[in-house]
Amino acid sequence: MDGMEIKNITILGSGIMGHGIAQVSAMAGYNVVLRDIEQQFLDKAMEKIKWSLGKLVSKEKISEEQQNEIFSRIKPIVDLNEAVHDSDLVIEAVPEIMELKKKVYAELDKVANNRIIFASNTSTLPITEIADTISRPDKFIGIHFFNPPQLMKLVEVIPGQETSNDVVDLTTNFVKSVNKIPVICRKDVPGFIVNRLFIPLVHEACYVMERQQIQQTEIDSAVKFKLGFPMGIFELADFTGLDVIHKATIEMYVRDKKVILPHPTIEQLFNEKKLGQKSGEGFYKYSDDKYERIPLSEELAQKCNPIQIIGNILNNAAWLVTNNASDINEIEKAANLGLGLKKPLFETAKEIGMQKIVDELNQLSKKYGTFYEPDSLLLSMC
Ligand SMILES: NC(=O)c1ccc[n+]([C@@H]2O[C@H](COP(=O)([O-])OP(=O)(O)OC[C@H]3O[C@@H](n4cnc5c(N)ncnc54)[C@H](O)[C@@H]3O)[C@@H](O)[C@H]2O)c1
Repeated sequence: MDGMEIKNITILGSGIMGHGIAQVSAMAGYNVVLRDIEQQFLDKAMEKIKWSLGKLVSKEKISEEQQNEIFSRIKPIVDLNEAVHDSDLVIEAVPEIMELKKKVYAELDKVANNRIIFASNTSTLPITEIADTISRPDKFIGIHFFNPPQLMKLVEVIPGQETSNDVVDLTTNFVKSVNKIPVICRKDVPGFIVNRLFIPLVHEACYVMERQQIQQTEIDSAVKFKLGFPMGIFELADFTGLDVIHKATIEMYVRDKKVILPHPTIEQLFNEKKLGQKSGEGFYKYSDDKYERIPLSEELAQKCNPIQIIGNILNNAAWLVTNNASDINEIEKAANLGLGLKKPLFETAKEIGMQKIVDELNQLSKKYGTFYEPDSLLLSMC
């Protein structure tokens, strides 16, 4: 693949993620084909892109001429053959269903040219397992944009077991070229980096609430005012969607029991269709489906010692380092850009005292099982 240059991009799936990735790619000068299974989905996606570019014009971030130029670089196409025939990079953003992804890649494998890179925007599915369904797994990689792609700076790049170094380099350079910041998750581990830190935390916050008999606003306030989160864990869970969290939990837990200790509340909220902001209720109730912040305060924060919360996230961060999937600097970058953490995790840990955190994890481990055992990296930092 020496000297290969990416010029033409195809995005499969024009939903929440696909249309956003199409927009950022076109804004960076790429020729983009947006592909979906029905014209009506593409029409809606193109409307959304037009609206989003219009907002940039009204904020004077781009001119009307640039808006038209960018928009004209995106071609909506339903026919798969036509959509990929001149493509250098396919970014797949179809729904998070393994069987569907495999079907999509089987079709794609038949029609795609030899140079094409296959990049999946999956949040939780194993990269290597999807890659194994195509005849060229060395050309397959994970490219995990965050929602909304137009605003979120972080993109996780995840090589599968057989991904070639050239493909990692080309993908990383592509991410930089669309003005995003790549963080490489060196191993195809459940949850990659950000979801491995975040999803288990939602469950842990449920355990804290149950075991310490405190209010969710008290935990959320402590997380926000003592740990440097941009909002509370329950608030962030409602914003993300309990359906997304439930699905990610299943995918991560099935692959690794050490990463997450599922709390029944998540499944219960999902079954009750309390999905968070979008359904009007999740952990909190919302007056309408508009974005709404929960009133949190430093006073409420005094009611909760978030040591179990920081212990959980640190243990998962440390696991990534110990297992050579990442390093502390990259994890801090991902936590800052993906979760909005204002303060580095390991700095917060130092302030609280690593020994205290390890003691807490050891106590929890005695009481609730080996899930809580502190990672060797944390022990070495005491
Ligand atoms: N929504 C998020 O917050 C988020 C964040 C990061 C990653 N992701 C991941 O991105 C992917 C897409 O998620 P989404 O939220 O954009 O989903 P979505 O449901 O909003 O959009 C998926 C689109 O794919 C289309 N589609 C279905 N089959 C197709 C096919 N064979 N070819 C082309 N298009 C097809 C659907 O019609 C739909 O328009 C998933 O893997 C998800 O896990 C989602």
